[in-house]
Amino acid sequence: MTFAAVLAGGIGSRMGAEMPKQYLTAGGKPILVRSVEQFACREDLACVLVLTPEDWVSYTKDLLLQYGIGPGDVPVTVLAGGATRNDTLRNAIDYLEDHFELDDDSVFITHDAVRPFLTQKMIDDNIAAVLEYGACGTCIPATDTIVVSEDGTAISEIPDRSRLYQMQTPQSFRPLKLKELMDSLTPEEEAVLTDGCKIYLLKGEPVVMVPGAVTNIKITYPSDLAFAESFLAGEDDA
Ligand code: CTP
Repeated sequence: MTFAAVLAGGIGSRMGAEMPKQYLTAGGKPILVRSVEQFACREDLACVLVLTPEDWVSYTKDLLLQYGIGPGDVPVTVLAGGATRNDTLRNAIDYLEDHFELDDDSVFITHDAVRPFLTQKMIDDNIAAVLEYGACGTCIPATDTIVVSEDGTAISEIPDRSRLYQMQTPQSFRPLKLKELMDSLTPEEEAVLTDGCKIYLLKGEPVVMVPGAVTNIKITYPSDLAFAESFLAGEDDA
């Protein structure tokens, strides 16, 4: 079985809005709803989890229902995330373990709620990559030259750009394997490993890339929201 988790447990401190950024609208529709819709329409998913801050669970259930998303053909379940993104991921896996028979063939797609422009093809490619390789992350080639600085002042390295990519989400895994690897982390590792792909790599497990898109932005700052608005306005004009 294939499962999806939309991670919406953050508070959006860098956005500085009056509510967590996933509830702000772009093109008249909440960002979270745009992300969840991309999963809720898929009949190949056994369940879509939406993990939010605890205080926002009830608000989110109502919001999704307003958009016709609920416990329908593809059940969409809202539950509380955790204090960190990893805790939110763990809550998702724990819920799946409690409610489904997970096995080594299960597929678990994880997606940041604040990337509302993911495509169906990215989801298809994530599923195919997990079936073939076990884990994947959605990536695009780096377009900027990336520099490394150990002290925040001096540049210590300028890696060859042709080897560099930017990681996006979805990132997808075998859920039991992800849980096993997360359980093996030390507190120090846990503090720096903020996503599943990093955890796999640290533990020596293979992860492959699937193609992302420059439009699959993460909404972090107000300028990202402005991009989202103009991107959607362009789509309407097309
Ligand atoms: N996330 C989560 N649970 C957390 C923290 C983050 O599910 N405890 C999710 C966010 O909701 C978001 C994604 O992880 O969809 C990427 O995180 P980020 O963009 O850093 O979101 P925030 O933590 O909300 O933002 P900020 O760091 O500005 O507070």
